[in-house]
Amino acid sequence: MFLFLLSSLVFVKEAATTLTAKPNIVIVVADDLGYTDVGFNGGDQIPTPNIDWLAKRGVILSNYYTAKICTPSRGSLLTGRHQMQLGLQRSVILPSAPYGLGLNETLLPQYLKKYGYSTHMVGKWHLGYYKLDYTPTRRGFDTHFGVWNGKSDYFSHYDTDWGVHSNESGLDLWDNLRVASEYNGSYITQLYGQKAVEIIKNHNQSNPFFLYLAHQAVHNGISPQPLKAPQEYLDKFSFITHDGRRRYAAMLSVLDDTIGNLTSALISSGMYENTLLIFTTDNGGPVDGFSMNYASNWPLRGCKETYWEGGVRGAAFLHGKMLKNPGRTSHQLMHISDWLPTLMTVIGEKLPTDIDYYGVDQWAAIQYDVASPRKEIIHSYDLSTGAIRHGDYKLVICCDNNMNGWYPEQKYVPTNQNPYISCGERNSSLPACTKDKPCLFDIQSDPCEYNNIASLKPQLSKWLLEKLETFADAAQPPRNKPSDPAAFPRFHNGHWTNWLDKNPIY
Ligand SMILES: *[C@@H]1O[C@H](CO)[C@@H](O)[C@H](O)[C@H]1NC(C)=O
Ligand SMILES: *[C@@H]1O[C@H](CO)[C@@H](O)[C@H](O)[C@H]1NC(C)=O
Ligand SMILES: *[C@@H]1O[C@H](CO)[C@@H](O)[C@H](O)[C@H]1NC(C)=O
Ligand SMILES: *[C@@H]1O[C@H](CO)[C@@H](O)[C@H](O)[C@H]1NC(C)=O
Ligand SMILES: *[C@@H]1O[C@H](CO)[C@@H](O)[C@H](O)[C@H]1NC(C)=O
Ligand SMILES: *[C@@H]1O[C@H](CO)[C@@H](O)[C@H](O)[C@H]1NC(C)=O
Repeated sequence: MFLFLLSSLVFVKEAATTLTAKPNIVIVVADDLGYTDVGFNGGDQIPTPNIDWLAKRGVILSNYYTAKICTPSRGSLLTGRHQMQLGLQRSVILPSAPYGLGLNETLLPQYLKKYGYSTHMVGKWHLGYYKLDYTPTRRGFDTHFGVWNGKSDYFSHYDTDWGVHSNESGLDLWDNLRVASEYNGSYITQLYGQKAVEIIKNHNQSNPFFLYLAHQAVHNGISPQPLKAPQEYLDKFSFITHDGRRRYAAMLSVLDDTIGNLTSALISSGMYENTLLIFTTDNGGPVDGFSMNYASNWPLRGCKETYWEGGVRGAAFLHGKMLKNPGRTSHQLMHISDWLPTLMTVIGEKLPTDIDYYGVDQWAAIQYDVASPRKEIIHSYDLSTGAIRHGDYKLVICCDNNMNGWYPEQKYVPTNQNPYISCGERNSSLPACTKDKPCLFDIQSDPCEYNNIASLKPQLSKWLLEKLETFADAAQPPRNKPSDPAAFPRFHNGHWTNWLDKNPIY
């Protein structure tokens, strides 16, 4: 009797430990991925079987929003705060710009470390590095392999500065705080994939791990060079006659294969069962040659760097054994800043109460398919353009650039109807959206933003504009600083480094 009790106690204790064991967390960020380029969102030109396998056995997010460009999205993802609270609402951090995500912000890996996680980062940072304290291993990551900038050449890992300084070029690849110069010729997507697999294989399972795998794919390398991919992948897509699109397809296919390898590593290490994997893009795809890229968000309007759905509606999903009723799509409204509060609930911990998070906890909405706690998303508002979504409605103050159409109804993607998004009818008697006046769309019935109904709902338009302005009034001013020539690699052994510290790394 006594023995029996003892063994059942042991059993109960073991079960409790298993239940409370914190899951491993993997966040895979794709860069500049077109909304409809992945199979799980209806893309049928570029096979993405590994990504789709995870998505279709997980929970796909169909109403999920990122920022329109890279730096603000990554800032929000890692802090749970809004780009406008972070002062990162304007452009991206250029290589020679001496600023970064404020040091008073707390990052996801810092929270996770506190709760016993090993924290690893592979891939691109793009949140500043002019001083060492801004770099990944000083911001909560135990390890980092990758670039401090937003991108680099896929094979040489050299990155150039922008605009008039675009001839300033240097290596940007780091193995923690060592310049990793020995990888010349290794295709960066495969290299990141291998490093991620190594981290999983080497992980000591006495504690959980967090892996932030921020791929460069399918962002371009160095413009105006065409997109680059290994020859065997280019050959695989010889049926795509448009050169830029073929290159894009090859880049995405490599990414997909690395996700397959990542999944295998999780399974063979025995950690798959207790790992939550999140896949997200950082923004919509750049189209039609924009930064040498040929993504497709079609039939959504616009692209990266616009507030149209094609710029901010992100391809994303979750995968993991802890998800209830997997194999479904969650239509709840979600913003990229929501991951941090959501993950705190996943690991059974509370957020500090003295920080003004923009993100909200979506775990119940995701798990039980109940209403989203989020009714509104301020997409952003800066330099007289912006957008806000409230309920079904979206106010857009356009236009940042001239990418305001639907791409590609032309050239490089077969134009069959996307079965996952139904656009509704165009009402040609409504006025086109121009920069003169804010425009209003009913995203629920008009996801393709055909019909500007601002003139039909002036009160609502005014109310939304006021909300946007009020939020903007409370924003942290943009942290942007002009380019500092002291950053140029020719002053630092040919690589980008933390140039404003007393002893930059050489
Ligand atoms: C880039 O161009 C500027 C202006 O022509 C020149 O002063 C500078 O030396 C060049 N930099 C490199 C790395 O060649
Ligand atoms: C990298 O490899 C390429 C191709 O082999 C070569 O042309 C280039 O000089 C190498 N770069 C460096 C910095 O070694
Ligand atoms: C996946 O792993 C295999 C086996 O290690 C390797 O040969 C292949 O290059 C990897 N794929 C990619 C895209 O890195
Ligand atoms: C894993 O970590 C535990 C606790 O720190 C330690 O006792 C064990 O030796 C480690 N295992 C390996 C294989 O390093
Ligand atoms: C089209 O817009 C006009 C206003 O310009 C409106 O009166 C009409 O009802 C709309 N048609 C449809 C089919 O929604
Ligand atoms: C960090 O400081 C800036 C002002 O410099 C402020 O706008 C921001 O809200 C602060 N962040 C936190 C988490 O308090």
